[in-house]
Amino acid sequence: MVVTTTVSDSDENIHSTFASRYVRNSLPKFKMPEQSIPKEAAYQIINDELMLDGNPRLNLASFVTTWMEPECDKLMMAAINKNYVDMDEYPVTTELQNRCVNMIAHLFNAPMGDKETAVGVGTVGSSEAIMLAGLAMKRKWQKRRQAEGKPYDKPNIVTGANVQVCWEKFARYFEVELKEVKLREGYYVMDPVKAVEMVDENTICVAAILGSTLTGEFEDVKLLNDLLTKKNRETGWDTPIHVDAASGGFIAPFLYPHLKWDFRLPLVKSINVSGHKYGLVYAGVGWVVWRDKEELPEELIFHINYLGSDQPTFTLNFSKGSSQIIAQYYQFIRLGFEGYKDIMENCMVNARMLCEGIVKTGRFNILSKEEGVPVVTFSLKDSSRYTVFDISEDLRRFGWIVPAYTMPPNAEHVAVLRVVVREDFSRGLAERLTTDIERVVKELDGKPPSRGTVKVAHVTAAVEGAGGEKRLKKSVEETQREITSHWKRLVDGKRKGAC
Ligand SMILES: Cc1ncc(COP(=O)(O)O)c(C=O)c1O
Repeated sequence: MVVTTTVSDSDENIHSTFASRYVRNSLPKFKMPEQSIPKEAAYQIINDELMLDGNPRLNLASFVTTWMEPECDKLMMAAINKNYVDMDEYPVTTELQNRCVNMIAHLFNAPMGDKETAVGVGTVGSSEAIMLAGLAMKRKWQKRRQAEGKPYDKPNIVTGANVQVCWEKFARYFEVELKEVKLREGYYVMDPVKAVEMVDENTICVAAILGSTLTGEFEDVKLLNDLLTKKNRETGWDTPIHVDAASGGFIAPFLYPHLKWDFRLPLVKSINVSGHKYGLVYAGVGWVVWRDKEELPEELIFHINYLGSDQPTFTLNFSKGSSQIIAQYYQFIRLGFEGYKDIMENCMVNARMLCEGIVKTGRFNILSKEEGVPVVTFSLKDSSRYTVFDISEDLRRFGWIVPAYTMPPNAEHVAVLRVVVREDFSRGLAERLTTDIERVVKELDGKPPSRGTVKVAHVTAAVEGAGGEKRLKKSVEETQREITSHWKRLVDGKRKGAC
């Protein structure tokens, strides 16, 4: 509580903040208020409202970093007033970005010498990085078609239906048809065989995900590369691959160094990664790197000189903060390969522990794989009395934010819960979460069926009335689908917003 002490001010200023007029009226929501208020009151009001936000450390929905070392926090705060785009004025910050790009390109095995500079750029996140990579792919394809005297007005991109919403945004914003390989029950990533079948002469690239947002599973980029190489040879096309390594880009090099998913595969021309996910920096940094400068059409790079010397820029936004770039460099030199490996191994151990705890309850099937991003995705074996959405809601009581969602087409009838294991999700927290899941499930066992499942009973009864056991059996499956699509309508926006 803040007590204002300036006696020379009006009477109000001697009241405690909570008794002052500033908090007695409802807060401005639509129009900027006419009058100013003391800084202490503004702070208190906003701080108090923010108390109702969830606790980021318990937000297991997000891949995005929620803890960093205090030394790095200090560096970030010191740079809070630096606009990254003022490169002439802040040349050291620019240099740190370039060093980060080089380090990431080397980590992803770009074909370059030890002292060669890489082609890449820092972005606000993987979404911006994907827009840039997609634009480069589109432009390259257009130029090639133009040179061949062929139409270039119907570009498409092939992805799995499990892609994150940023790919749908790219497709819609930049007028590229999105051709999605549908999922199926038990197979929740893009099938490379089907993806390559969908490729045609208008395909600007196939986008593979290293670490599906939904289950953390890695897509088989090596197989995709091999199949696409064969198809390119047979057709004379030159369809490339982009790897969306938003979360897996900082997992695979440390945990699975022999897995070939990156520039070691000839068709992989660009890769994005989120610095703010397993790059271990707070929200606001992503990266895109290209195999070499041939893959980034020169006409997409703008050159400005009004901030000083000639500056190349290839980003969607102009101004942005510098803190995240500085923080990324801090993490790279502070942790080194050894430190990242340690942290990722620990995340994996904690994910495995959590997984075992969840399996022990006997209620769930695990959908995530041993190899991949440390994510635990699980579904209920029996959702006739309550659903994963009920469990998600009940876990909130303990402070846990565990999202529930349905899978994309054609696996919409599968509803899951997902826990993202980050650096700061310790073993102790994993044990607590397991205990709380057990508790919630036991409580739900003792309650009447939830609203979503009453619908099952309803439809089942109707079917029974309408006749025959045979029909009833068939209908259970149909009903499950109906429930999940009902839920899907409710939560679809949320699933698409899953980060
Ligand atoms: C596979 C994948 N791609 C892209 C994104 C978007 O990343 P960002 O939040 O860094 O824009 C995400 C976010 O979770 C993701 O999981």
